[in-house]
Amino acid sequence: MAGNFIKSLLAVALSLNGASATQVFANRGTMSGWDTYNHEHKGKVQEANNPVFPDITKQGTSLSMTQVYDKNWKGRYHSEAVKYNVYKKGDTGFYGFAFRLQDDWEFTKGLSFNLAQFIADFTSLGCSETYMPSTMVWLEGDQLNARVKHGDVCPQEEQKTTFFRKLATVTPGAWHRVEIQASWRSDDSGYFKIWYDGKKVNETFGIPTTVTDSRPFQFRVGLYANGWHDKEGEWEKTQTTRQVFYDQIAVGTEFADAAPDKW
Ligand SMILES: *[C@@H]1O[C@H](CO)[C@@H](O)[C@H](O)[C@H]1NC(C)=O
Repeated sequence: MAGNFIKSLLAVALSLNGASATQVFANRGTMSGWDTYNHEHKGKVQEANNPVFPDITKQGTSLSMTQVYDKNWKGRYHSEAVKYNVYKKGDTGFYGFAFRLQDDWEFTKGLSFNLAQFIADFTSLGCSETYMPSTMVWLEGDQLNARVKHGDVCPQEEQKTTFFRKLATVTPGAWHRVEIQASWRSDDSGYFKIWYDGKKVNETFGIPTTVTDSRPFQFRVGLYANGWHDKEGEWEKTQTTRQVFYDQIAVGTEFADAAPDKW
């Protein structure tokens, strides 16, 4: 409470100062405040009392996202919380979350598990594209990866992807922080920056960071076990129940608005 009061005073002070830091979305690992959820097949999105991101109060909840492999299921494996309208082409913003893989998470070489994504519904364009992610952040083996997309959404051959690979080695059973700053442009005037556990792991200026279409994108955090769907494999022989916890998810105009350990 005192923290919130001080934060309000700070917000007033900053706005009087002309520098307006605005946290446009903030979620402390709860089911409230999201626009919707997307959990498919045996996937679950739930609140968990333990573990929670070590915030000031050491209380509250985190979001627990689980997915279960099923060799007879032909659909996808999303377990995500969804916030609408976090960016449009031309915007600049900061996006952050804390995540923690289950203690016994098994890294599988070549298999990807998506952790967060920016996505929009392009069905109205009339090519075969429906929901298409622009930026994604995922795990492949024990490596954190990210990408941005540009070009026209339709036809699909016009979509171009820029990868930021092997950004960091992720450890299970521990909280990790991710922050992104992006200037969302479809020409060469954009930039993309990404931090992991407080360290900037890539910063690339002068690139297109989003597609030409200017509709609003959603921000989704959660486990999307895309490798189970997209890649051929005998995944039933590897760990088939996967759990990722999320906490302190935020969007804002300054680094501190989005950094999980700063609010
Ligand atoms: C950042 O990512 C770009 C695009 O993949 C790459 O060319 C560049 O080398 C990376 N920078 C660092 C410091 O790793």
